[in-house]
Amino acid sequence: MKMNIDYIKFLEQKASALDPLDKIRKNAIEKVTDCSEQFLSGLDTSPVFNPSETEGSGLFDSPITEEGKELDDVLQLFDEHILQPGLNPTSPRHFGYIPGSGLFYSALGDYLAAVSNRYAGIYAASPGAVRCEHLLIKWIAKVLGYPDTMAGDLTSGGSIATLSAIVSARDAIGIKAKHYDSSVIYMTRHTHHCVEKAIRIAGLNECIIRFVDIDEKLRMKADALHDCITSDKQKGLHPWLLIATAGTTNTGSVDPLKDLSIIAKVHKLWFHVDGAYGAAFALCDSGKKVLDGIDLSDSLVMDPHKGLFLPFGTGAVLIRDGIKLHGPHRYEADYMQDESALAHLEMISPAELSPELTRHFRGLRLWLPLQLCGVAPFRAALEEKILLAQYFYHEISKIPGIETGPFPDLSIVIFRYLPLKGDPDTFNESLVHVIQEDGRVFLSSTIVNDAFVLRMAVLSFRSHLNEIDQVIEIIKEKIKFLEKG
Ligand SMILES: Cc1ncc(COP(=O)(O)O)c(C=O)c1O
Repeated sequence: MKMNIDYIKFLEQKASALDPLDKIRKNAIEKVTDCSEQFLSGLDTSPVFNPSETEGSGLFDSPITEEGKELDDVLQLFDEHILQPGLNPTSPRHFGYIPGSGLFYSALGDYLAAVSNRYAGIYAASPGAVRCEHLLIKWIAKVLGYPDTMAGDLTSGGSIATLSAIVSARDAIGIKAKHYDSSVIYMTRHTHHCVEKAIRIAGLNECIIRFVDIDEKLRMKADALHDCITSDKQKGLHPWLLIATAGTTNTGSVDPLKDLSIIAKVHKLWFHVDGAYGAAFALCDSGKKVLDGIDLSDSLVMDPHKGLFLPFGTGAVLIRDGIKLHGPHRYEADYMQDESALAHLEMISPAELSPELTRHFRGLRLWLPLQLCGVAPFRAALEEKILLAQYFYHEISKIPGIETGPFPDLSIVIFRYLPLKGDPDTFNESLVHVIQEDGRVFLSSTIVNDAFVLRMAVLSFRSHLNEIDQVIEIIKEKIKFLEKG
């Protein structure tokens, strides 16, 4: 076969834009840095929520074309149609849902990870990247009191981490299709929806789910759990999985982990703790006390993109008896034979502990800030968030007409306003609406005990006393406005 060398060279030339020269790279970096600096320096004044009319639809006016565009024009599109509309999770005044924040050093870690593109799924391909992720998992395990026998994985977030934990539990307990309709899972109405989603994805939809009663602090009642399990056993059912939450999304409540662990042990249940939001508080003294018993779980989820302030895209799952994480995720393939020969048990490839094979080297975005800042600023920021939530709780209670939920276990406060007349639910729905539309601060809402309540979730490393005071002033202002209206 005669090859057309000229055509190959023509294609090489045509593809050269994919590999910019150093001068072009430097220029691009400068422009992107200017863009990010402008964004970061505007955070103090820019709105946290921008309910723009176009909602980014202008992007469709600049479709992907055969020829590329100028970087300035692309950055303009990014700013106008991606950065501007909607919620700004990096804002110090974001107190809705579970606030993200986004460490700057993580962005640098992502940049280096993308440029160097190490293959972090397989030990043989990048022993350093894999060791880096193992080191981080070991560090998280130590913070949470897990033993050396554990194994873990850095995931894309809490939902996938939960899926890994659920399939590990399923296989460890030996739940097979023929058992599904007599196998019982226990949680509460405050358990995050990703748990039920993971149960469905894991094929366990036919299992029986019991929502255990909660106490006045919105925590699972240990005695109610015990009664439920006993009654299910008497009916000939098979209780096998207990899901507790260390920091519910709704209210931040922490289930009584120690008591629940004892019940799980007595009845031979797998004890999973969802600490996606709350587990990182184990780094600070007051958080550690609240999380007492977290180390007794069989599996645990913790999200560095929540409590360790990383940009979105990093969760973590830990399995106490590490081999049980390996069980459902191991693989054999002829084309991986070189890797298997080299794999070291202690440095097992993440691909054997995760649904993923090829993956982002997400460890670098956690490793770099931890190396550069040390752990102390993380501890301080988390302790500060707990105290800020308590401060908010005290200050908001002073506003006439405000009814608060339980004193916060961690850093989420729920509250509502009882209007002089009219339906409280309708009033509070309007209240959260006008606060969001105003754009200076962002709160979200939920339903607790059938009542519409507002949530104040303090988690960004950028949120400080000043921002909390600002929220309180805005709430007062908006209540006055709605009461007048
Ligand atoms: C308690 C809890 N569990 C699990 C999740 C799911 O995590 P992710 O959004 O990272 O998938 C969340 C998310 O907010 C959460 O708050």
